Amino acid sequence: MFALDEACFEEPFWFSLRAMRRFAGAKRAATILAEDEDGRLVGFVVAHQEEETVYIVTVDVAQAYRRQGIGWELMQRVERAFAKARRVELHVFTENAAVIRFYEGMGYQQIGEKPGFYGRDAQGNRLDGWVYTKALGC
Ligand SMILES: CC(C)(COP(=O)(O)OP(=O)(O)OC[C@H]1O[C@@H](n2cnc3c(N)ncnc32)[C@H](O)[C@@H]1OP(=O)(O)O)[C@@H](O)C(=O)NCCC(=O)NCCS
Repeated sequence: MFALDEACFEEPFWFSLRAMRRFAGAKRAATILAEDEDGRLVGFVVAHQEEETVYIVTVDVAQAYRRQGIGWELMQRVERAFAKARRVELHVFTENAAVIRFYEGMGYQQIGEKPGFYGRDAQGNRLDGWVYTKALGC
């Protein structure tokens, strides 16, 4: 999962191995994997619940497997896995138009901004995040 995350993101957006272990191993967390027919990991989603909100830590699909509905299926399954929660929340880099389209297509709505959520790039530019949410059980 860590290797796939490194392949999917630019460096400032990587999770450290430690952070990924911590998120995936959290008390009310779910990790859902997508594998090819040979059992190789091609995608995954990590989410955890705090009170009535499920937070999507990350959803990654290997480049060669994108636009085949795998990301959508992973998100559907995670929403079903936490069906008793009230809402799902996630962050997305404000300049990542493709991923914004992906989430908005699934019914997620922008509710706020977190300046500097992703730190800074190598040139020192601030990397901001949008906060997105979707109500569950409606
Ligand atoms: C975001 C991501 C998980 C999507 O996975 P995927 O398996 O390619 O997504 P799907 O095939 O299920 O796409 C579902 C819909 O989302 C939209 N979408 C997905 N990728 C898109 C793109 N690059 N550009 C525009 N729309 C896109 C489309 O509407 C798509 O439906 P369509 O293919 O019928 O047009 C994948 O691109 C990825 O791993 N990106 C890098 C990691 C990342 O940024 N993750 C998000 C963390 S915030």
